Amino acid sequence: MPELARTLPASWYCSQPLYQLERKAVFLKSWYLLGPVTRFLVVNERVSYEIAQKDIHVYRISKTSEFPGPGDLRVVNADNDTELPSYVTPTGLLFAALSQSAPSFHEFFPNLEPLLSTVDFTRRPYRRSIKYEGNFNWKTMVDGYQECLHCQYTHPSFSIYYPPTFYTVYNHENFSQHIADPKKPNDGLFLYFFPNCTLNVYGGGMSSFRVCPTETPGVTRMEFDYYHISDGDKFEDYFRFVRQVAIEDFELCEKAQANLERGVYGEGILNPEKESGVAYYQERVFDLVSEQYEEDKKIEILDHDRKTTESSVGLVVETSA
Ligand SMILES: [Fe+2]
Repeated sequence: MPELARTLPASWYCSQPLYQLERKAVFLKSWYLLGPVTRFLVVNERVSYEIAQKDIHVYRISKTSEFPGPGDLRVVNADNDTELPSYVTPTGLLFAALSQSAPSFHEFFPNLEPLLSTVDFTRRPYRRSIKYEGNFNWKTMVDGYQECLHCQYTHPSFSIYYPPTFYTVYNHENFSQHIADPKKPNDGLFLYFFPNCTLNVYGGGMSSFRVCPTETPGVTRMEFDYYHISDGDKFEDYFRFVRQVAIEDFELCEKAQANLERGVYGEGILNPEKESGVAYYQERVFDLVSEQYEEDKKIEILDHDRKTTESSVGLVVETSA
C-alpha cells in the first residue's frame, strides 16, 4: 500500500519563525493573479496590493486599445517605484511576482496557458472588491479551498448547485483545477494558484480572492474581487450567493484555527482521493520551506566561520602589536 500523505504539523499554522521562512521560500518566489485586465482600465489610476508585507501598485500607462494589453500595464514596488516581473496572458489575466528572485511566469506555470485560453476574461466587467481580516493562518483557508469534504455540511446552498459527491481536483505544476462534475468539465472554471490566489468563473460571474498572510501567523487578510456580465439585480443576486459561501468558509476557518492553536491536534493523514489538492500544495510548502531552512543554515555556518576567522586574525594582529 502506498504511503499516505500527512498534513503539515499544527505548529506550522501558529509559528512566527516558520512564517518568516515561508515568506522567503514561498511568497517572495511565487507569481500572483492580480486580476483580469478590466480591473485596470483608467490610465494612471493605481490599484494597490499587499502580499506578504510587500506593497505593490498596478497602473495603466497607455491606451492602445479598449482593454490594456501587455505593454499597457506597469507593476511596481510601491516603496521605490521599481518595476516588478509581470505577465498578461493572451486572454487577459495579469500576473506578477514580488521580486526578481522569482522564476519566469512560464517556468512557474508551465501548463497553465492552454487552460486559461478557454475563457475570454475581458467579458465580465469589474464590479466590486472587499477585504477583511480573519483569525486564521493563510494555510487554514487554502486547506479548505483545496478540498470539498466540508462542502455538504458547511455550504448547504452551494451544494444544491454543485453536489460534492463527484467533486474532483486535478493538480498541475503550481496550480490546481477543481471540477464539480467530471461529466461537465466545461461547466465553469475553478482554479487555485499556488500559494494563495484563486479564480472562480461560472455563469455570468467571476471572483478572485487572495489569502494574504499578515505578520501574525494566526491572522490573515482576505481580499475578494468580483466581476459580472450584468450589473444591478443580477450582480447583487450573484454577490449574495458567493458572499454566503465565503462567510461560511470564514467561520469554519476561525474554528479550525482555534483548534490548531489549542495544542490537542498535531497532524493527521490526508484522504488520497478527496484531499489530493491539500496534499499537493502542502507538500510544495514543506519542500520549499525545508530547502530554505537548509540554505539559511549553510549561510549561518559560513557566516559563523567567517566571523571566527576574522576574530582570530584580529587577535593575532593585537598580540603582535
Ligand atoms: Fe468551503
